[in-house]
This record gives sequence, C-alpha cells and structure tokens, in this order.
Amino acid sequence: MTFVVPRQAEGQAVEDPFWPRMPVGVDGLVYGGDYNPEQWPEEVWVEDVELMRQAGVNLVSIAIHAWALLEPRPGEFDFGWLDRLLDLLHGAGISVNLATPTVVPPAWLYRAHPEVRPVTRDGIELERGSRATFCPSAPAYRQAAANITRKLGARYGDHPAVALWHVHNEYGAPVGSCYCPESATAFRRWLRARHGSLDALNEAWGTTFWGQRYGEWAEIEPPRVSGTAGNPAHELDFARFCSDELLSCYTAERDILRSHSKLPVTTNFMTTNCKSIDYWRWGREVDVVANDHYLTAEADRNHIDLAMSADLTRAVAGGRPWMLMEHSTGAVNWQPRNIAKRPGEMNRNSLTHVARGADAVMFFQWRASRFGAEKFHSAMLPHSGTRSRMWQDVVRLGKDLGALHEVRGSLVQADVAVLWDWESWWALELSWRPSIELLYRERVAAYYEQLWDARLTVDFVAPEADLSGYRLVVVPSLYLTTTAAAKVLHDYVAGGGTLVVSYFSGIVDANDAMHPGGHPGALRDVLGLEVEEFLPLRQGEEVSLDGGLHGDVWAEHIRLEGAERVLDYLDGPAAGGPAVTRHRLGAGSAWYVSTRLRGAALDHVLREIYPQAGVETHDDLPRDVEVVRRRGVDADYLFVLNHTDTEVRLAASGTELLTGQRCESELCVPAGGTAVLRS
Ligand code: GLA
Repeated sequence: MTFVVPRQAEGQAVEDPFWPRMPVGVDGLVYGGDYNPEQWPEEVWVEDVELMRQAGVNLVSIAIHAWALLEPRPGEFDFGWLDRLLDLLHGAGISVNLATPTVVPPAWLYRAHPEVRPVTRDGIELERGSRATFCPSAPAYRQAAANITRKLGARYGDHPAVALWHVHNEYGAPVGSCYCPESATAFRRWLRARHGSLDALNEAWGTTFWGQRYGEWAEIEPPRVSGTAGNPAHELDFARFCSDELLSCYTAERDILRSHSKLPVTTNFMTTNCKSIDYWRWGREVDVVANDHYLTAEADRNHIDLAMSADLTRAVAGGRPWMLMEHSTGAVNWQPRNIAKRPGEMNRNSLTHVARGADAVMFFQWRASRFGAEKFHSAMLPHSGTRSRMWQDVVRLGKDLGALHEVRGSLVQADVAVLWDWESWWALELSWRPSIELLYRERVAAYYEQLWDARLTVDFVAPEADLSGYRLVVVPSLYLTTTAAAKVLHDYVAGGGTLVVSYFSGIVDANDAMHPGGHPGALRDVLGLEVEEFLPLRQGEEVSLDGGLHGDVWAEHIRLEGAERVLDYLDGPAAGGPAVTRHRLGAGSAWYVSTRLRGAALDHVLREIYPQAGVETHDDLPRDVEVVRRRGVDADYLFVLNHTDTEVRLAASGTELLTGQRCESELCVPAGGTAVLRS
C-alpha cells in the first residue's frame, strides 16, 4: 500500500490537503441516488421523502436536468419549486447534492444561439432533443452556464440542506468533442499554449510528412474527416484539447460555486468507460472523486469489470475514499438486452464498490420515471413500488450501509500496481496501426482478470507515478511511453522491482513519433531486447508456445540484448524465436510478453512471476469469491463477496459487521452474499 493517510474523524483536523471532502454533515457511509421530483406532482414528494427515510437514504442528487425549469426564459428564474423541495428534504434530515443543470441547456439558448449545437467530425450539426449536446467552446453556452451556476451558488450556497455540489453530469458523454469553428478557435489557442510557436508545432506534428506544413495558426482546423488517415499527432493533440476544454467548463463552474459557498464540489466520472476524458488530470480538480458504473449486464463474470472500475476510480482519487455516484438497482435501459440483476446482486455490487474504497453508494435513480427515454430503467423505488423485492433490497442495503458506518475513511490494501494511461489509449487506437485488434482496454481487462482470479488487489497507477511501494508492476499496454515514464520503469526494476510488459508498448513518444533506435524504443533497455519486426496474425490465427500455450492477434521477431528466453514460439511467423522473456536488471527483473495471451495461458505466465516477485496469491478460495481488505486506524475490514450460488466457509475470526455476530474461527458467507469482518 502506498498511501499512509490519516483517517478522517469527526472534528479531527485532517492533515492531508488532498483528503476528500465528503458531503458536509452526512455521517457514516453515504446512501441515496439521483432524484428527479420535477417529473412528479408535489404530493408525491412527500411520499418520496417518507420512503427515503425508511430506506436510510441520507443524500440525493437533484436538479441535474432542470435548467429549463429553473430558467424558463433567458434571465427569468423560477426557484420556488426548488426552495420547497430543499426545505422538505432538510426537514426530513436528508442532505442534498445540488447540481448545476448545465448538461441540458434550454431550447431558448439553441434558438438564440444556433452555434451552441456541436458539430461531429464529419460535419453534422447535432440537434437538441436529447441531452449533453452542446459545444463546450461556444461563448454563448459558457456565459449561460456561468449565469445559472452563479444564480444557484448565490441562492443555495449556504442552504442547510445542501451538502455537496454536483457540477454538470458525466462530462465527455455522449458527445466528447466538437469540430465547429468556435472549437477550432479554442483548439488553436490551446495549441499555442502547448507548443509555443508554429515551428515547434510543425516539428512536433512531423508536418513534413505528406506536405502538411502550416504557415499560419489560422490554417489549423480540428481533425475533421478527410480523404484518408490524418496526422496522428494532430489527432492526439485534439483528444488532449477536448478533455481539457471540458475540464475548463467544469473548473469555471466550480470556481463560481466556490466564490459563493464553502461546500465541496465534484462531478461524476465514468473512469473505465469514458475514453475521451483524461481522469488523471481531472482527479486533481474535484474535492471528492465521484464515479458512475453500470454493469455490462450480459457479460460473463461482470463483477470483475466492476472491481476494475472501482480500483481505477480509487487511483484517480489518489488512493483515498471516493463516492459511487450512480449505479443501478436492476436493469438499465440502454444496452442491447437489459438483463435484470439477480436477487442479492445489487447489494453485492454496492458492497464491492465499498470494499474497493467507496464511502458512498448512490443510484440512478430514486423513483422510476413514468415517461421519457429512461422509463424502462430500474430505480430504488421501481414502478411496482414498495411491494417489490427491489424495494426490500433497497431497504436492506440502507441497513447494511448503516452497519458499516465505521468503515468510512479506511483505506484499501493493494498487492500489485497496473499502469493505466488515457493518452496511450487514444494513441493506440488511432487509424493505421499494424492490426485493428490492438485494443487498449482489452489488454488491461485481460491482465486485470488474472490478477483478480489470483485474489490480488490492484492499485492502478499513472505512467510517471512512484512505484517504489509495489513488488509487482504490470504494464498491459503502453504504446505511447514518454522517456520520463520509461525512466520510472527502469529505475523501478533496477531498484529490485518486478515488471511485466505486454507487446506493442514503448513504441512512440507524446507526439506519436517512433522512439529512435528500434522498437520498443523507450523500453528497450529495461526489457533487454529489440523487436526487429512486428508480426500481426490473421483473424483467428493462433501461434503455439512452449508449455502447450497459445497466443493470437500478435507475434514479434525479437532479438535478445540481455534478456533470457522463458517461452519460445513453436510455430507461426516467429517460430523458434522468443515469445516470453525475462531481463534481470540491477536488483529486479523485467518480463516481456510478445503475443496476446488470455485466460489460462496468461495465468500460467503470471504464476511463474508472482513467487519471483514475492507476491502471495490466495488460491485457497473458490472461484468467484472476492476478498478485499480496507485498513482503518483501529481495525481492518475484510470484505468477502460471494458471487457464486453456493455458501462458502473461510477460516477467519473477528466481528461480522452485517450480522453483528462474533466469528471465532470460521466465516460462513451465504450463496450470493457478502460478509464484512472487523479484526
Ligand atoms: C448515466 C446518467 C444518468 C442516467 C443513467 C442511466 O449514468 O448520468 O442520468 O441516464 O446513465 O443508466
């Protein structure tokens, strides 16, 4: 574990300036969801509040989509309903996460300022009518957003019901970029700040290729659809710009709120699922990291993807506690087939997020909508109301979170680090790569699954982060590797660490230019080899390796420069050459895996590495039983999440917090259930 941070206690001064600022005045773990009372007559609000109390809800997010109701005509405001709602909630002791509603500008703004519509890469102007359809660079949008934010900040900045500010909603989705003339102007401004001069930009972008040289800033446009593949450095800078441009929308609203209010400010992320936002940069700008996660309902063992999302969110939060701002009680409505959650699954999902560092469990949404695009989405209070099993589960979850109140502020204990990088994801998946099957998230998920199965808890880390606290660092895919990041990896290995790197890493620099001197330029020294030629495989083709293993998608012709062979290719285009290598460097070792291994084959290789790295796996547990530990100042909390249909028994002792029972030597976790043991 790399973070040694003091636990936050009531009234105790927190020494760490980056300690998250949880909703003010909410004790224990936070419980609640998005609440959209504007869709219901006010009589229903009274019932809502009564049922929230029954369920143990202590925080609701409101007004996320309410701009047109709050400002029905430009400069004309109607806060009456919101005043009444806040008073009602406050009277019932329920705190509010008050949103700035800037994700859905009102119709009047589009009418007065058509330029607020975003334009796609292929020139289509997107219409209003759904949500999150705006150009982040349009001055008219920025001004109107600032105005409504100012009004809300001034009116509710010290309202006793408000505990947290929720800026906007899910920046980056569904529209993460705009290619209109306003965006072009903002992009040029951003490029000047990054490159300083046009000469530097031409150099960085390699514009001598295909005669793309620029003589004036005004000649540079967003990378719109062109005849064929564009300039990858141009595309990569545009991806950076889009993330930064949305970030500046967020910080502008945040700073207005801060000028009116002392309450913490956040916005909801989608860490593993939003490619367009560089959350390493965003994580520093929020007072508490908040995340939304939805299961891919049809996927097999989707609790592993959930764990990965939670671990990445904790990393973005610097290892500190974070808020699960949204997930679902049951089915969503936007996947091809919206599979319902099985009994117990919602509770287990929720407590998995808590196990991995969440101090808040919230849902979309409180009461299911009768109309609109999301009426088939599950809710805490579903269409069948309090008669439903779902409602019983919601009430039970409220009790469970109450029983876990003391877990708040404790820190997750991790075993290994996995490197994650949005920039490398962007760069890898640009056009004209050696194979269309080089996919960033696929490799990360493949390694993560094996680590999960070995019951190793993962800390995700940014490319240049300090790795000294870890015995094992895994780099599943790092196509874009800066020399600074490569140095960190080199020093880590030389200092005694064990590194595992997957193929097609270390290839290009921050401008998508090849590192000089042969592949994998930035990582050649640490891996002790050169890749002479990439050998992508045909669709479905497999290559055999020693030990009965098989790879697909990719192979390489490797020349060893100090590394030793561990497994060779037995057939295919690299037959006879090394497939998996180890380089002993200083006090550590760097492993390289040059083909796509999955499942048992990848597990086989990693199990060679774990003991050499001094990492202990937990193989005594049945498949799909998850174990994670959080450490507080006075106690440890062992979360056991049983994703199987059979009861499991583990040797353990302590107090089981959900039942309050003392466990002397054996912990019994029912089929599909969860236990949290304090020791
Ligand atoms: C997102 C949004 C919510 C809602 C849910 C539905 O996370 O933030 O407003 O649309 O999806 O799953």
